[in-house]
Amino acid sequence: MLHKKLKAFPQDFLWGASTSAYQVEGANLEDGKGPSCQDVKEVPEGTSDLTVCADQYHRYKEDIALMAEMGFKAYRFSIAWTRILPQGIGEVNPKGIEYYNNVINECLKYGIEPIVTMFHFDMPAALDEKGSWSNRESVDWFLNFAKVMYENFGDRVKYWLTINEQNVLTLSGPVIGTLHLPEGCTNELKEIYQQNHHMLVAQAKAMALCHEMLPGAKIGPAPNISLVYPASCKPEDNLAAQNYNAIRNWLYLDMAVYGVYNNLVWAWLEEHDATPEFAKGDEEALKSGHPDFIGFNYYNTATCQWDDGSEKVSTFADQQTARGEAGMFKGFKNPNLPTTEFGWEIDPMGFRATIREMYSRYRLPMIVTENGLGAYDKLTEDGKVHDQYRIEYLRKHIEQVQLAISDGCEMMGYCPWSAVDLISTHEGMVKRYGFIYVDREEFDLKTLDRYRKDSFYWYKKVIATNGEDLSD
Ligand code: BG6
Repeated sequence: MLHKKLKAFPQDFLWGASTSAYQVEGANLEDGKGPSCQDVKEVPEGTSDLTVCADQYHRYKEDIALMAEMGFKAYRFSIAWTRILPQGIGEVNPKGIEYYNNVINECLKYGIEPIVTMFHFDMPAALDEKGSWSNRESVDWFLNFAKVMYENFGDRVKYWLTINEQNVLTLSGPVIGTLHLPEGCTNELKEIYQQNHHMLVAQAKAMALCHEMLPGAKIGPAPNISLVYPASCKPEDNLAAQNYNAIRNWLYLDMAVYGVYNNLVWAWLEEHDATPEFAKGDEEALKSGHPDFIGFNYYNTATCQWDDGSEKVSTFADQQTARGEAGMFKGFKNPNLPTTEFGWEIDPMGFRATIREMYSRYRLPMIVTENGLGAYDKLTEDGKVHDQYRIEYLRKHIEQVQLAISDGCEMMGYCPWSAVDLISTHEGMVKRYGFIYVDREEFDLKTLDRYRKDSFYWYKKVIATNGEDLSD
């Protein structure tokens, strides 16, 4: 659709950026914090461990002051479960509560709205020992953690996100170091979708509890949504795209919003004897969630073609790389899209298409909780980072958000990845996303000083003009 006049971004649009605790904080076992799955996993070869990261635990004041200088209206960060409850359940760690109180208060001091992700890839290691999300009790563990957060921070935090990228946890757990399977598991698919089911129930109950305990707050899910294109106009490729859209995207949002399993996914799981078991009360619990908005991460679209099931297809992939499921779909590299230095496709127009599709399916306001470009940034001798490529990437994506708004989609905010440089999920420190450069290398911690990148100054102007001026 060509618009003669574009609609403006809403006046209260939440411009900001995102991080997650295990990637940015460091201090991973300090002040009583327990280990999470990220602290005990084997890190990918050649990449840093997660002990120091960007050291935000000790430098949150400086980081938040820089965010304020950029004019942030919101900061999306996650609360590390093991900082609050070192063993996942049981004793609360007062130092953990104190830390997040400080972070929240520091944000509010500058008028920055804290947007809290309750769970970002960091299951307490002690709970993995107890069976992780395979254990039915995980629903209660998570609900207890949610309650502690609502009690301690609910007087100030108005926006909550439940589980970051539950679809990535389910589809790419081994890549990000989160999948924990019980010994002797014979049907891996069933086990993974049972875990997924427990997360879905936990999420719905946490949303209902939020509404009960914090009537003024808003809560929503935060999946990674990538609209899936068919590789051609062949009818079978279109079916394949529908299959992958269901498995990758709609399962999570159909459940969060309507409390029902996507029928295509359910039928596929039935074929593999992998449907999850419902405990008593799950059906009602799943319907009781009612998110107030949808948070979603978008990096690019996916493309796939038909797969007749005769050969094994690769199911191993990271968050954004084409994958396959025998007899359902097969990943396809879209020849129309450029890629980043790390091989992820770049598709700003697909952003608009993804937003349009989500809005027509769910009719809820949406906030972008991640979007961004991972690149090898270079700090010059005079302390600059000329990341014009990131400005280009973000500009093109913000333009598409405005087009989607002009299409009639309700958008609440834009929080790209990431506020500050941090450790990537599986590609280390060299894959930088931030507006703020952190002076460290993969294994050399250097000064950890902060530097404003060119994108910092550019984003500051974008925010100051409420998205009207996207020029350099
Ligand atoms: C998302 C995650 O999948 O993508 C983040 O929510 C992650 O945790 C981001 O860092 C970018 O991915 P990566 O693999 O480049 O760090």
